[in-house]
Amino acid sequence: MSLKLLPRRSPLAKLSHSASIIGLLLLGSVTPAIAAFVQPARSDLDMVVSAHPLATAAGVAMLRQGGNAVDGAVATALAIAVVEPFSAGIGGGGFALWHEAETGEVTALDFRERAPAAAGRDMYLDVTGEPQSQLSRNGHLAVGVPGTVAGLYALHQRYGELPWNRVVQPSRVMASQGFVVSDRLERAIAGSAERLAQNPAAAAVFLSGGNPLQAGDILRQPDLAKTLSQIAVDPNDFYEGETAAAIASDMQANGGLITQADLKAYKPIWRDPICGPFRQYEVCSMPPPSSGGVHLLQMLNLLGDTDLAAPGWHHPDGLHLLAEVMKIAYADRAEHLGDPDFVEVPVAALTSPAYAAARREEIEPQRARSAAEVKAADAETLERYSNLKESNDTTHLTVVDGDRNALSMTYTINGSFGAGVVAAGTGIVLNNEMDDFSIAPGTPNLYGLVGGEANAVAPGKTPLSSMTPTIVLEDDQLRMAVGSPGGSTIITTVLQIILNVLVYDMDAGAAVSAPRIHHQWLPETLRIEQYGFDQLTVDALEARGHQLQFRGGWGDANAIVVGPDGKLAGAADPRGEGTAQGSH
Ligand code: DON
Repeated sequence: MSLKLLPRRSPLAKLSHSASIIGLLLLGSVTPAIAAFVQPARSDLDMVVSAHPLATAAGVAMLRQGGNAVDGAVATALAIAVVEPFSAGIGGGGFALWHEAETGEVTALDFRERAPAAAGRDMYLDVTGEPQSQLSRNGHLAVGVPGTVAGLYALHQRYGELPWNRVVQPSRVMASQGFVVSDRLERAIAGSAERLAQNPAAAAVFLSGGNPLQAGDILRQPDLAKTLSQIAVDPNDFYEGETAAAIASDMQANGGLITQADLKAYKPIWRDPICGPFRQYEVCSMPPPSSGGVHLLQMLNLLGDTDLAAPGWHHPDGLHLLAEVMKIAYADRAEHLGDPDFVEVPVAALTSPAYAAARREEIEPQRARSAAEVKAADAETLERYSNLKESNDTTHLTVVDGDRNALSMTYTINGSFGAGVVAAGTGIVLNNEMDDFSIAPGTPNLYGLVGGEANAVAPGKTPLSSMTPTIVLEDDQLRMAVGSPGGSTIITTVLQIILNVLVYDMDAGAAVSAPRIHHQWLPETLRIEQYGFDQLTVDALEARGHQLQFRGGWGDANAIVVGPDGKLAGAADPRGEGTAQGSH
């Protein structure tokens, strides 16, 4: 490679590099996307960052009342269910990573949806064996057993400090009193209006006289307010009470599979996070059934000690290397990743620095390899590296409290408005997470991801995810917390934000704003953020054989970064409408 290994960098080198970034920021005319870099919010105490100003405000209110990061995050997440009903909610599921400052411990919670007991590997095939993707995306058959309420309650039971009904309160009030529809929500409703119109319970909430709600309208959700009131008194109502009965009867009436027994059986699972070194940092993220942590660490390992900063940020050499690294990771993802409670996932081998070092040798500095040339690891390779491990429409929110505990949570109902259906009488928008299974070998899901046996549907199984809530430590102390929605692009978005901070010295605002690239092995295209890269860079990538696909911005990331002064800097992605705010 023309990229060299990393020499020890002096603090002065860091400074001059930051200065060159600032120079770029001022030259907004070079690449228009750079002009849109957000300024981070700063605080020396605490910070909440989420995808919606009202959800951020709900979290901040908890911190002001003496709550910790979990109280703030639970209130924020429940508020998202109300104000961002297309992205995530109590009809979905997700993952959370928690860093406790006092003990230095990082814990992961899996509250992802599970396949109902009556689900089966061929449930989305027609009589001729052809996959029917619309069935895993739209309507009641697409719905996995939701985990959000159980997950948020489990987090709160273990770590929260304020009373449970207090953290539910802001969302209940927002659902009952209503809030002003934003441009972003207007676009989301309009984009799903046809599907929503087919489900009377969804149409009653999001359409008015058959027309999509518009920016400036007030959205009130009385059924959701009632459900949230019941959950405030007893979260188990969702799994065994009136809410469970309402969901099960809605399923039965509409050809869905979820029964009261499925809801009763739902359990969130505490898991050991995946942690690994990157330079002087320790990067911790979500283990399977998310693929996020495995492939984030794999990609960081593949980059290894390459001196990405020397040629400069977004230099074609660095972008080419990133694209080739992404291909290797996503080839392995398609073959090897699935629910670890059902299939053996070779986590140790895939996250082994030795495996990454071996695969790095394949990368050609001047030529983009085709998907056919980039193979997933075979059984023999996995065996060789399995014992070499040295250490061991979605939303993201990040909260750090005054004790520097951090909570990084990504949760979702999958596609925009999930399955496009609301369980009658509950106000709950139901997920279409079943589409994250591989419904047939090689059939792409909503995000173009392919998979095989490891991620086939089975009763009680969890669909593979890309969600990557991440916490980075330096000397056991919080350095940054980050995550994003964006389906298959989540892992590469988080990777690039981490590199922006740790390698290129960007602040939180620049790091989440910076233009992105994405490759997922298949399809064979390198996705490039439109207007984010200058023509010379684009030409240099094309000259190496990358098939470029220009796309508008993707993801809606956010991050909290501990700066050199020890203060917190938080930023929400300018591609969305989120905000960052401290409690004072
Ligand atoms: O778990 C996953 O990987 C997907 N269900 C996430 C969906 C998502 O990020 C949608 N956002 N744009």
